[in-house]
Amino acid sequence: MKNVFIHSTALVETDQIGEGTRIWAFAHVLSGASLGKNCNVGDHCFIEGGAWIGDQVTMKNGNMVWEGIRIEEGAFVGPHVFFTNDLYPRSQRIPQSRKRYAKKENWLLPTLIKKGASLGAGAMILAGVTVGEFSMVGASALVTKDVPPYALVVGAPARVRGWVCECGLPLRFKQGKATCADCGLRYRARGSRIAVVDPSR
Ligand SMILES: CC(C)(COP(=O)(O)OP(=O)(O)OC[C@H]1O[C@@H](n2cnc3c(N)ncnc32)[C@H](O)[C@@H]1OP(=O)(O)O)[C@@H](O)C(=O)NCCC(=O)NCCS
Ligand SMILES: [Zn+2]
Repeated sequence: MKNVFIHSTALVETDQIGEGTRIWAFAHVLSGASLGKNCNVGDHCFIEGGAWIGDQVTMKNGNMVWEGIRIEEGAFVGPHVFFTNDLYPRSQRIPQSRKRYAKKENWLLPTLIKKGASLGAGAMILAGVTVGEFSMVGASALVTKDVPPYALVVGAPARVRGWVCECGLPLRFKQGKATCADCGLRYRARGSRIAVVDPSR
């Protein structure tokens, strides 16, 4: 692995780590986990085999990323976000659940965090949801269903409360149009969704 920094107290059992990625103290990355280039994984993160993390992801301290969780490039995972991969969990050690847990497809529900999305501190992401591109999940939100691209969601259960720019700042729409006050990126509302207006894209 080229130009990868692994803190001396971290346990890293995968060789699928992209160039420039840094893994900090007391993190544990299991065999079969995959991390892209230029990621930053904070102290006390646990990344299970079957978890997939793209390039340029920032993961703050204390995250547990299970099998079935896919985090696309440039996403931000705040401290202590809760991911889940089973909606109806049972101990796999009791006879009553043995049949269900014999096959992964019976219980494992994949979760997708799309490109550029941000997950606020302590957010809880229920198994099976897709968190849309460049959306923003507020601190402590409970995400029970898909989050549209560029949406700001808060609360339990999380609801759309506004829209944010790719740079992270809130957008204010007038007659279906918005221009970011900071970076100048332009957007248009299409029904209940918004999209970037940029002929070069
Ligand atoms: C959701 C968020 C982006 C909203 O910011 P904002 O638009 O500036 O919101 P305001 O502070 O103006 O608050 C507006 C209202 O939303 C409420 N609110 C703000 N954040 C909230 C949250 N995470 N959950 C629930 N309600 C929230 C406020 O209490 C306020 O309610 P009121 O109108 O009844 O008084 C921000 O509060 C947040 O949670 N950011 C994530 C921070 C984080 O986790 N960072 C991680 C890096 S360390
Ligand atoms: Zn912007």
